[in-house]
Amino acid sequence: TDFETILIERRERVGLITLNRPESLNALNTTLMTEVVAAAGEFDADPGIGAIVVTGSSRAFAAGADIKEMAEARYPEFYLADWGAGWDRFAAVRTPTIAAVAGYALGGGCELALMCDIVLAADTAVFGQPEIKLGTIPGLGGSQRLTRAVGKALAMDLVLTGRNMHADEALRAGLVARVVAADALLDEALRTATTIASMSLPIAMLAKEAVNAAFETELTAGLRFERRVFHSTFATRDQKEGMRAFIEKRAATFTND
Ligand code: HXC
Repeated sequence: TDFETILIERRERVGLITLNRPESLNALNTTLMTEVVAAAGEFDADPGIGAIVVTGSSRAFAAGADIKEMAEARYPEFYLADWGAGWDRFAAVRTPTIAAVAGYALGGGCELALMCDIVLAADTAVFGQPEIKLGTIPGLGGSQRLTRAVGKALAMDLVLTGRNMHADEALRAGLVARVVAADALLDEALRTATTIASMSLPIAMLAKEAVNAAFETELTAGLRFERRVFHSTFATRDQKEGMRAFIEKRAATFTND
C-alpha cells in the first residue's frame, strides 16, 4: 500500500511504521491517523508479523495532534466525527507494539506512545501534555493512560502545567521501559521487537491481553482472568514445545499453534 505520511517496512517478523511528516514534526493529522491505523491493522492481520515498532524522526516522535488542522474546528463537527476515536483501533491492535521515541512526544504524540505496549526512549526524548497551553485538554488518552502509567501526582503536574519531561524523568516515572543513546534507539527497538517476534504469537497476544486487563479490572477479576488465560496456554502446541525444549536443553521453535 502507498502511504503519504508514513513509511512502512518489514524486517523479517517485525513491522516498522515510521511517521513521516517532517515539515510539521510528525503532527498527527487525519491522514496520518488513517494511515497508521491501516498499516497497524495490516500488520496485525498478518501472522507473519510478531511485533510492530512505531517511530518518528530524531527530532520528533510526534509533536501532537495537528494544531493547524483542528484550530478552527467546533464542537458539533468534532462530536459528530467522534474525532480521535479512530485511534482506538490502533490501541486495540493485538500484536505487541513498541514506540521508539526520540525528540518531541508531546500531546497526541505522548498519547500515541502510551497506546503502545512498550515505550523505548532515546536520551533526547521529551514527553509532555501541553494541551492546556492551547486552551484544551488531552484527548487521546493523556488524562487516562498517562495517569495509570505515572500516577496522579505527576499526571496532574504535567497536564495542568503543560511542562515537558525529559527521558530520564519519564523512565523514573514508569512511562518509559528503557532509555538508550539516540543513535542506538532504532536498533534497540528492532532487537526488542525481534525478541518478542521469536515467541509464539498467540501466547504473546495472550500475555499482552493479560497485562492490559490490569488497567481495566479490579484485582480479583484480573487475577481470575490471568489464571484462565494461563490455563488456556496449555491448549497450545507452543507451550508443549517451549517446556520440552527447556527440558531437552535446546532452543524452542514456535509455530504459532
Ligand atoms: C501542527 C506543528 C505542530 C503541531 C509543530 N508544528 N508542532 N504543526 N501541529 N502539533 C510545526 C510548526 O508549526 C512548524 O511549522 C514546524 O512544525 C516546526 O516546528 P517549530 O515550532 O518551528 O519547531 P521548534 O521551534 O523546534 O519547536 C518544537 C516544538 C513546537 C516545541 C515541538 O513545535 C511546539 O510546541 N509544537 C506544538 C506542541 C503541542 O502543543 N502539542 C500538542 C498539540 S495539541 P511552520 O511551517 O509553522 O514553521 C494535541 C491535542 C491532543 O496534541 C488532544 C487530542 C489529540
